Amino acid sequence: MSVPHDKNNPFPAKLVERRRLTAPGGQKETLHFSVSLEGSELAYTCGDSLGVFPTNNPAAVEALLRAARLGGDEPVLIPKDTAPVSIREALTRRLALNGPTYKFVQLLESRATDPAQKAALAARIAEADPEAKKAWLADREYIDLLAENPSAPVTAQELAENLRRLMPRLYSISSSPARFPREIHLTVAVVRYETNGRRREGVCSTYLADRARLNEPDLPVFVANSHFGLPEDDNAPVIMVGPGTGVAPFRSFVMDREARGAKGPNWLFFGDQRRASDYLYQEEWEAWTKSGVLTRLDLAFSRDQDRKVYVQDRMRESAAELWQWLQKGAYFYVCGDAKRMAKDVDLALHEIIATQGGMTPEAAAEFVKQLKRDNRYQRDVY
Ligand SMILES: Cc1cc2nc3c(=O)[nH]c(=O)nc-3n(C[C@H](O)[C@H](O)[C@H](O)COP(=O)(O)OP(=O)(O)OC[C@H]3O[C@@H](n4cnc5c(N)ncnc54)[C@H](O)[C@@H]3O)c2cc1C
Ligand SMILES: NC(=O)c1ccc[n+]([C@@H]2O[C@H](COP(=O)([O-])OP(=O)(O)OC[C@H]3O[C@@H](n4cnc5c(N)ncnc54)[C@H](OP(=O)(O)O)[C@@H]3O)[C@@H](O)[C@H]2O)c1
Repeated sequence: MSVPHDKNNPFPAKLVERRRLTAPGGQKETLHFSVSLEGSELAYTCGDSLGVFPTNNPAAVEALLRAARLGGDEPVLIPKDTAPVSIREALTRRLALNGPTYKFVQLLESRATDPAQKAALAARIAEADPEAKKAWLADREYIDLLAENPSAPVTAQELAENLRRLMPRLYSISSSPARFPREIHLTVAVVRYETNGRRREGVCSTYLADRARLNEPDLPVFVANSHFGLPEDDNAPVIMVGPGTGVAPFRSFVMDREARGAKGPNWLFFGDQRRASDYLYQEEWEAWTKSGVLTRLDLAFSRDQDRKVYVQDRMRESAAELWQWLQKGAYFYVCGDAKRMAKDVDLALHEIIATQGGMTPEAAAEFVKQLKRDNRYQRDVY
């Protein structure tokens, strides 16, 4: 019997479609991917995520090897492994090139033969302001530390012992199993930015966007089941708040409810920077609105006017109706950015419940707690 595919035994899947969703003129680079499950026993349900094991950009690996003055063929034993691999293989598939630690800065300081480099490293280690100390390192990757300190040699084995393991990334599945049982769709924002004068890229989002080949088994994946999902009752109303890539699971939800002929009303709040460039899956939402599957669609394009407009502003504008939906048993879902958006949406929900329900803030908080206990307030935020 074959071993089931999971995080410890990922399935080597094929990417079968890669399509840009955002228009080139905008600031966002968000792509749609389709991953084939053919040849595996993998199955999924709405709300699940796909785990993807990326590999690092070969150009970044070679640049790091050069900065460390290593040839690449040196054998290393990654901690907890039993068999050695070459440092090039370790840096390509197994280790994360970012996120250096002060332990590594200390190693460089102990090795530096150039007095200026040694003193500068010692000063960073001794930095008294914890925020400044953290910020200096956060701006750097291993390559910066090695390139800035050429007098401090480290061995291939020391690199292998200091770098963190390269971990899989999770992506909310944006297709419905009722419509695409053997395919998984993803909606991915590509991470590119600059720190310390160097261009950086997110490992997995650029692996998917730039390096994974189409129709080749380049994508080790697993399905991560989630508590996040549609109500069992097909008649229950559903309110979905998903700006940016947060909209991914809601494409799956609406597609699924359509495919199963679910009668419950569906309300989506979507937002992104600009309508002209960043309206993800515009045609699909418009078609679902026309056919009646999507009962309400409220859009918040934050940068199309002087004042920022966000999904929670649209919620407040429709506070009375949102409250009516909740009264009728609606399930409330939020997906996307955890740091700011999910907190602000939570605040707006509390306010709407308090004002529309004529409740004290404490009573509104208790109402929200009960929604959570009833599984009617679900979040998938990252
Ligand atoms: C349950 C779940 C579902 C998710 N679903 C989706 C989804 O549907 N779509 C999606 O796109 N993502 C989703 N994500 C996020 C996704 O897993 C990855 O975190 C994301 O793609 C970035 O991974 P990466 O490997 O490309 O970047 P990494 O190599 O991990 O780099 C990201 C890191 O780069 C740094 N960074 C990023 N931008 C900047 C900046 N401007 N300045 C300085 N530093 C910066 C930060 O330290 C950040 O943590 C989800 C995450 C979870 C946990
Ligand atoms: N570093 C961070 O703090 C941070 C935050 C969010 C996302 N990200 C990352 O950025 C990438 C792209 O993310 P994404 O495509 O999902 O979109 P996103 O960056 O989350 O943006 C989607 C929309 O949400 C708006 N937004 C910003 N702050 C908000 C808030 N407090 N409340 C409600 N809406 C808010 C954005 O507006 P404006 O951009 O015009 O303000 C934009 O219109 C992802 O990799 C994600 O992990 C990083």
